[in-house]
Amino acid sequence: FENKYRRLKKQNLVPIKRLPDALIIGVKKCGTRALLEFLRAHPDVRAAGSEVHFFDKFYHKGFQWYREKMPPTLEGQITMEKTPSYWVTRSAPRRVYAMNPAVRLLAVVRDPVTRAISDYTQSASKRPTLPRFEDLALVNSTVGWGGTWSVVDASWPPVRLGVYARPLRRWLRRFPRSRLLLISGERLVADPAAEMARVQKFLGLKQVITEKHFYFNSTKGFPCLLKSEGQSIPHCLGKTKGRSHPFIDPVAIERLREYYRPFNERFYELSGINFGWP
Ligand code: A3P
Repeated sequence: FENKYRRLKKQNLVPIKRLPDALIIGVKKCGTRALLEFLRAHPDVRAAGSEVHFFDKFYHKGFQWYREKMPPTLEGQITMEKTPSYWVTRSAPRRVYAMNPAVRLLAVVRDPVTRAISDYTQSASKRPTLPRFEDLALVNSTVGWGGTWSVVDASWPPVRLGVYARPLRRWLRRFPRSRLLLISGERLVADPAAEMARVQKFLGLKQVITEKHFYFNSTKGFPCLLKSEGQSIPHCLGKTKGRSHPFIDPVAIERLREYYRPFNERFYELSGINFGWP
């Protein structure tokens, strides 16, 4: 057995743990779990199941610790993980670069207004006493002759995280644009196969994940996987993905849209992609 193992190992036929070749770095609540699960349907992708938080929380544990968190892979397979908080961790670009300057980065982005509501809905599911979204996203400020105007609370994390231009600039100071793939969260829902074709091309993978892998589950209202590695029965993402959102006052929505408009424009310019958010 020992000899056989050594021979297989020499031929790279024994899976070993490796540092990631690709990372899903964000953005929180934009569809990062869907992207990872869709990628895991590919036979040449192996990914850590849960968020590792190495580049934000556990960097002091070192690369050996990080490697241990990865699933074993064969030569030629891609190792990856997703931790959406990397997107906004100031030291993450430098640290990721130190691991591997040739790493491939993926980020899903989505209309910041729906992203904020999704973020809020997640918090509210854990804290039922949370005030209404409108009361957290907008603050009343006294302007002019004492009239009250609702202005956007830019410091509230669900609002702040939707300003994508600033973190993008940080990542692009360290990595060339060609190393970062931006994925539309809207398209990942509307046409997952098309978006996954871009992802597979970017990662240098064979085009294995196609329309045949997806079906639209009308009860859930989202695309689900028909099959994937290790799971031959159709399955959707868990209950915490694709929650129904509360009704939000259209006036609040409009305020937020106005707030984000210039930031979105700057993001389109920097990324070279017009995501077409309203
Ligand atoms: P909601 O639950 O608010 O609808 P993340 O995985 O980054 O936390 O993002 C969660 C969001 O992914 C969900 O937010 C949902 O809109 C989106 N999503 C994209 N594709 C999905 C899919 N196939 N199934 C479920 N949710 C999906």
